[in-house]
Amino acid sequence: RLEDYDISPQNGFLPSELPLEILPDAYYQPWETVGRSFQSLILAKRLRQIIDALPVLSTEFLLTEAEWRRAYSILGFMAHAYVWGGDRPADIVPPSVSIPFLQTCKHLELPPVATYAGVCLWNWRPLFDDEQVDSLENLATHMTFTGSLDESWFYLVSVAIEARAGPIIPLMIQAIGAARRNESNVVVECLRAFAERLDEIGGLLERMYESCDPHVFYHRIRPFLAGGKNMADAGLPNGVMFDDGTGEQPYVQFAGGSNAQSSVIQFFDIILGVEHRQTGEKKSDSSAPGAPAHGFLLEMRKYMPGPHRRFLEQVERVANIREYVTSRRHDRALVTAYDACLAMLRTLRDKHIQIVSRYIIIKSRESRSDSRSLSPKEASAQRLNLANTVRRGSSKKLRGTGGTALIPFLKQARDETGEPAIDAW
Ligand code: HEM
Ligand code: ALA
Repeated sequence: RLEDYDISPQNGFLPSELPLEILPDAYYQPWETVGRSFQSLILAKRLRQIIDALPVLSTEFLLTEAEWRRAYSILGFMAHAYVWGGDRPADIVPPSVSIPFLQTCKHLELPPVATYAGVCLWNWRPLFDDEQVDSLENLATHMTFTGSLDESWFYLVSVAIEARAGPIIPLMIQAIGAARRNESNVVVECLRAFAERLDEIGGLLERMYESCDPHVFYHRIRPFLAGGKNMADAGLPNGVMFDDGTGEQPYVQFAGGSNAQSSVIQFFDIILGVEHRQTGEKKSDSSAPGAPAHGFLLEMRKYMPGPHRRFLEQVERVANIREYVTSRRHDRALVTAYDACLAMLRTLRDKHIQIVSRYIIIKSRESRSDSRSLSPKEASAQRLNLANTVRRGSSKKLRGTGGTALIPFLKQARDETGEPAIDAW
């Protein structure tokens, strides 16, 4: 059952219970007070001081899953704002955040970073309860680093996509059963509905441009999303230490938040039998013994909530659509419907590459060539290499917040989406 994997038949990987705006137990008021003035505290550069002075709260009063998720979300925002919200990055997260954050991470089976789950999946509310949440007209965020509409929009486009994609999950599980029973008509219908939804999702993705400005994204929002991995240039050569009060914890390095941590896109790949390989690896190399199947994307599963990760593994065990279509190449309707899904998924990746080029590649070029005409704030960020870091890993190459080499990685993922296309006879 989908519910066993924390999946809602309507809204997919979004929680079926609405994300909490605040933790109900007054015990957690100190966190929520910080949350309420979050952007102002960052702006006034007082957030670190305030967090340093917070009491170390226990997680024993978190009762429901929704409460654990809210705790994870707010503590993730606090940890990243603590690390990145000063003139220089801080490499030690103090006990007031570390101790409850690590316990929350353990409960939810997530790493101690602001993952896609913390900033997107569990960080929204509908504007009107009686309306659908798969539309950008009915969504608002709970927390942001900057207070900008651009940042809200950046997260909400993903939320709307998750919601719009939700019904595809039960639909395609049904298709697996139909393929097993050789009910070709049913499989065709499911695939057609899937392709249509993918098209709508592409439309939602393109709405990013409407209200998320590339400049705001690149210079103001993105630096906060960075993790502690490959961040030597940014002033975190060892990563981050989550101080448990002894000051003797090891430094750890985790990738920053990235949409590559969305379970739904990986679900699409699995269900359609799209295989991804290590970046730079050709198709023939992947059969090399011991070669990891899809490197980064597989790694990103560790950044998904435990039940979602297990769901993907389970689907991997039973996915049969590609095999079914291959075995029925004479079935024109079936092959056409399957190929339409692949084409739509590929188009979605094309649209995404466009976005990355406008929001990251072009912005990074501009800031390199305009470094003399930067505003004081940007100049200081650049001196400290904050915006640039996420842009360059230690190898001085442009990097995604997740740590990939951006375009080569994304283009390969797109090309691999086309590969299994099956021609009808
Ligand atoms: C991966 C940037 C919005 C879906 C990535 C990566 C970058 C990136 C740089 C490479 C991984 C990394 O190193 O972090 C952006 C930017 C966005 C944006 C700049 C908006 C301003 C979205 C949205 C979605 C999405 C709204 C939702 C569909 C993905 C997926 C991957 C990915 C699925 C993994 C690669 C793949 O499966 O093809 N993104 N992204 N991104 N992004 Fe986005
Ligand atoms: N993964 C996105 C980036 O690299 C957010 O900017």
